[in-house]
Amino acid sequence: MSPTLTNKQVILTSYPEGLPTACTFAIREVPVPSLKDEEVLIQTLFLSVDPYMRLRMYHSPIYREPFNLNDPLTGGIVGRVIDSKHPNFRVGDIILGHLDWALYNVAKGEHIEKIDPSRAPISTALGVLGMTGMTAYFGMLEIGQPQAGETVVVSGAAGAVGMVAGQIAKIRGCRVIGIAGSQEKIDYLTKYLGFDVGINYKQPNLFEELSRACPKGVDIYYDNVGGNVTDQVMKLINWHARIVLSGQISMYNLHEPDTGPRHFRTLITKSALARGFIVWEDYKRRYPEGIQQMSEWLMQGKIKYAENIVEGLENAPKAFLGLFSGENLGKQIVKISD
Ligand SMILES: NC(=O)c1ccc[n+]([C@@H]2O[C@H](COP(=O)([O-])OP(=O)(O)OC[C@H]3O[C@@H](n4cnc5c(N)ncnc54)[C@H](OP(=O)(O)O)[C@@H]3O)[C@@H](O)[C@H]2O)c1
Repeated sequence: MSPTLTNKQVILTSYPEGLPTACTFAIREVPVPSLKDEEVLIQTLFLSVDPYMRLRMYHSPIYREPFNLNDPLTGGIVGRVIDSKHPNFRVGDIILGHLDWALYNVAKGEHIEKIDPSRAPISTALGVLGMTGMTAYFGMLEIGQPQAGETVVVSGAAGAVGMVAGQIAKIRGCRVIGIAGSQEKIDYLTKYLGFDVGINYKQPNLFEELSRACPKGVDIYYDNVGGNVTDQVMKLINWHARIVLSGQISMYNLHEPDTGPRHFRTLITKSALARGFIVWEDYKRRYPEGIQQMSEWLMQGKIKYAENIVEGLENAPKAFLGLFSGENLGKQIVKISD
């Protein structure tokens, strides 16, 4: 390793009130520390951009510990080992880890895992064969329990989780309605991914559109967004419906608590189930099974995926902000190095 290697990191400069801005983040240069025993030096190739990171930008804990001010953000990283003092890792290995948003990371061997680059493009370890794919897989199959002929509505349907969740429901023989924020996304869902209907929630008459698309009501609602979209879907849920609470992105930037319609009464009167989950807490030990099945579906062409890849560490904050304005179709990734 060169002793003069300089690192760049994306740090959090303040806890934003409402939507973060470019000023919420800064790029810092620091030297790369030298390796100790059992450590590995990793060059970042791809980093994962995820909505939940916003929940760590509050000074009181909402989800996990808050990010520290003036420390690097952390997230899913695919990288290449460029130096190693750990017996299990060799230069050239491709690894996955939860590491700093940085050009380089020094990590203990126990905090990273090797990925097999022959399985699929390595960026998929952050998406369809990684955390977001597993969220769709376990959320839809374990909580949603889709049965052939049922009606499934997916919100955030053109995002990393949503597009996979909807396709899994199609594999199970369901009628699938996807809700997303642009005509381009709706076209992608219906013309390329095989969703039965797509609805743009930014157009007026969302409830009328939903009612038309779901003449037999909604058996499964896979919710990635919350807010008004969810309020409209909830009016249509069926007896014994399952509501998969995957995410609530419309609420992640709310400065004041939002008191929308309260849905517990509907859950009672429809004898319905609503269940939240955190994929890497609830299903981490079952990832191998999910990845195996998802890899087969990919090879069989039953699951397709999209990645929205921007280049350069300095563009990572902008990519993160884009999640809240719907810039991404599919998994948002930043490519850092070839
Ligand atoms: N439970 C878990 O373990 C787990 C794991 C991973 C992710 N998640 C959650 O799953 C959801 C999707 O995550 P992802 O990684 O796949 O992100 P994503 O869907 O790829 O990206 C976020 C999308 O959300 C939509 N959006 C943003 N603001 C919105 C609003 N106010 N109302 C409606 N839609 C809005 C945008 O699409 P449009 O153009 O359609 O608006 C945007 O593209 C997130 O809520 C995330 O927190 C949960």
